[in-house]
Amino acid sequence: MPDPDPRIAFFDRLAPQWDADQPPIAETLARLDQLQPTLGLQAGDDVLEVGCGTGLVTNWLLEQVRPGRVTALDFSPAMIAHAQARGVEAEFRHADVCSDDLGRALYDLVWCMHVFPHFRDQAAALRHLARALKPGGALLVLHLDSRQTINAFHDRIGGPVAGDHLPDPQSWETLLADAGLRIAELIERDDVFCLRAARAA
Ligand SMILES: C[S@@+](CC[C@H](N)C(=O)[O-])C[C@H]1O[C@@H](n2cnc3c(N)ncnc32)[C@H](O)[C@@H]1O
Repeated sequence: MPDPDPRIAFFDRLAPQWDADQPPIAETLARLDQLQPTLGLQAGDDVLEVGCGTGLVTNWLLEQVRPGRVTALDFSPAMIAHAQARGVEAEFRHADVCSDDLGRALYDLVWCMHVFPHFRDQAAALRHLARALKPGGALLVLHLDSRQTINAFHDRIGGPVAGDHLPDPQSWETLLADAGLRIAELIERDDVFCLRAARAA
């Protein structure tokens, strides 16, 4: 039996004060509203929200896709408990995307906001996520900061998240191709990292 990912205990510890430590939620949601034309969430989409944390944006996602559904998952029991307590009409799952089978061809969109760098095995996570996408579905990796800022931030925090990085564009291509995905759009700005990857139809 392999040792548990030390990030689980790390995020469990952060869960109670997570919301208070984030930028004001109204600001985050306003930024998502602005980005929505780029994000391309559509009414009727079934969405898998990966690493939902305390569910800060779960309801926003649901509002974009109704009557589509949102399944929100996280491997930190404390984070999932906080997310569930919000009472949002989503399905909540305790799962680890690096090791758990997430099902086949279930989702139009896999939403990874502020989480991808933390996958201890990014190749395995992408394989599981790609399999969970419907043919023609898309994976979205979103950060409301630049790749460089995110990577430096995790190194500064240290501990289990030191070295948790967003790949560079060349590594993305290889990782995605190995999972049967290809880059449809990559936005690298000072204030946003947004990668959209498509699964072959
Ligand atoms: C930085 S937090 C972001 C939470 C939320 N997306 C947000 O923007 O507030 C990353 C979350 O991803 C979860 N996570 C990290 N690796 C994971 C994995 N392999 N499987 C499932 N969840 C994971 C952590 O438990 C944590 O709740």
